Amino acid sequence: MANKTVSDSNLLRTLFNLWPYMWPNERPDLKMRVVWASVYLLISKFVLLLVPYFFKWSTDALNGKTDLHTSLPPLLTGAIALIIAYNLTRLIQLALNQLRDALFASVGQYAVRKLAFKTFVHMHELSLRFHLERKTGGLSRIIERGTKGIETIVRFTILNSVPTVIEFLLTAFIFWWGYGFSYLAVTAFTVWAYIWFTIRASDWRISIRRSMNDSDTDANTKAIDSLLNFETVKYFGNEEMEAKRFDKSMEKYEKAATDVWTSLGWLNFGQGVIFGLGTTVMLVLSGLAVQRGEQTVGDFVFVNSMLLQLAVPLNFIGFVYREIRQGLTDIEQMFDLLEVKAEVTDAPDANPLSIAQGAISFKDVHFAYDAARPILKGISFDVPAGKTVAVVGPSGAGKSTLSRLLYRFYDIQSGAITVDGQDIRGLTQKSLRSAIGMVPQDTVLFNDTVAYNIRYGRPGASDAEVKTAAEIAQIAHFIDLLPEGFETKVGERGLKLSGGEKQRVAIARTVLKAPPILILDEATSALDTTTEGEIQTALDAVSKNRTTLVIAHRLSTVIGADEIIVLKSGEIAERGTHAALLAKDGLYASMWNRQREATQAEEHLKQVRESDDLGVVTRLAPAT
Ligand SMILES: Nc1ncnc2c1ncn2[C@@H]1O[C@H](COP(=O)(O)OP(=O)(O)OP(=O)(O)O)[C@@H](O)[C@H]1O
Ligand SMILES: [Mg+2]
Repeated sequence: MANKTVSDSNLLRTLFNLWPYMWPNERPDLKMRVVWASVYLLISKFVLLLVPYFFKWSTDALNGKTDLHTSLPPLLTGAIALIIAYNLTRLIQLALNQLRDALFASVGQYAVRKLAFKTFVHMHELSLRFHLERKTGGLSRIIERGTKGIETIVRFTILNSVPTVIEFLLTAFIFWWGYGFSYLAVTAFTVWAYIWFTIRASDWRISIRRSMNDSDTDANTKAIDSLLNFETVKYFGNEEMEAKRFDKSMEKYEKAATDVWTSLGWLNFGQGVIFGLGTTVMLVLSGLAVQRGEQTVGDFVFVNSMLLQLAVPLNFIGFVYREIRQGLTDIEQMFDLLEVKAEVTDAPDANPLSIAQGAISFKDVHFAYDAARPILKGISFDVPAGKTVAVVGPSGAGKSTLSRLLYRFYDIQSGAITVDGQDIRGLTQKSLRSAIGMVPQDTVLFNDTVAYNIRYGRPGASDAEVKTAAEIAQIAHFIDLLPEGFETKVGERGLKLSGGEKQRVAIARTVLKAPPILILDEATSALDTTTEGEIQTALDAVSKNRTTLVIAHRLSTVIGADEIIVLKSGEIAERGTHAALLAKDGLYASMWNRQREATQAEEHLKQVRESDDLGVVTRLAPAT
């Protein structure tokens, strides 16, 4: 029982949420279409009720009987004229229905587009944490099914539910008025039983369908994840394991989908039995009356065709109810998605960042992704305007976390981060982010051209500006070598480029953005020492007079920094200039020495290679 009330309130909530899309205030033309569609629909219902009358009249005319209930205009009494009229009304009714559908199509499509748009925008508003925890494949399926569900619902609620009730009321009235109370009673009881059964059976089927949707989403997520990891699967030769995992999800889907079809069979059969019983009773009643001479054969035919006609919307009620509930199942998930609140939001009184020089300050910052595991434990440091501060330290120390916090992907638990003295929690996210340029640790590119990816830094940039940015980032030379130059496609996530090339594209687009504040997170980590040296020169030029936060593993790249902060397990272990830290002979000095040894070994190896190309392998062993 508790379950049922929950799903009913969801139904009401969903219909409530959908209303503005079915009756869009900003589109009076669409509202007019809804009105006209309803008018055509009402007319078509009245025309529809004329159809059995013409059939009855032509039957009686063919039998040579006069009608017991209606006095006909003399023109219409010819049997052939009546037969033609009978078919003509059917045709008119059909035409009206088509007109209604055509009018309403644009209303439905508009609702679909508007909601899909809203969901898409919302997804970008949600925080990084949400996206890291969500599966992108599953997410896109939810949107796809949700938008389809809207189309169904918008269409069926407005155009079918109310009119079907009207048609039933008209039919009931005609039976009562023309043939007496018992005919009304049997019709009403049959319809009630039919609807009751349909709703019960459909509710049962919806739970089956839900589990089908779940396993469908699950199988899809697995397939996409597996394909995204194509290379990894090959590295470990785990194709068979992947296939088995996928097949297991598909097996669940297979079973659920089969149940959906079997249950549909039961539903249709049950509906047929109920309606069949009702029709039998009505026709027996009418048949007896014909034998008693109280009704004509025309009346018998009339009752039969009225019932057949009623079966159409009733059949539709089942269909509409199923569709609406199924659509709701799908939309429910989409609206749940729309109701997820963004973790990081602009404060109600948020101001745009007024940037002077871009001085950054971290004051006693405490932060944890998970309350159970603190990552930053009271970090304080300043990056004065136009200066460069480097953060170094072991992997997992929390270096990249600093850059995510400055971008305000997460809110800190205590302390403050300020830019030019303004707490970033009081700023609009847009203004804050537009002031910062980021070259991330792992660059992911859009599956488009090189030019598109560079221009992403400033979408309005001219071709010449894109080219200059590419030159500054030392990637122009590489692009010239490509057969299609700037128009070369980079592949999904940019995988057709090497790590170093991707990183340089990322640098180029940041150069194009030209922000007052720069964050370089291991910007040169994927490059060999020679290229690194070249890019370092470029980066130095870019970061000149810009407030720059450099995160680096290779200490050789941060010698020139105004201050170096050594981060260890979320705490500042040491800080100072390169020279001061070396003199201190602590953690930094030991890291420096280790790296220098490694570099020397590398240099040595290079010399060996240059002097003798063939002996590399044998000479390698003693060198290491
Ligand atoms: N979204 C997240 N949810 C939970 N924990 C996270 C998340 N992102 C990072 N962490 C954890 O926070 C810690 C710090 O991560 P961070 O990326 O800042 O390290 P880092 O110093 O940049 O390391 P590296 O030098 O390897 O890039 C890591 O131990 C990591 O596991
Ligand atoms: Mg990192």
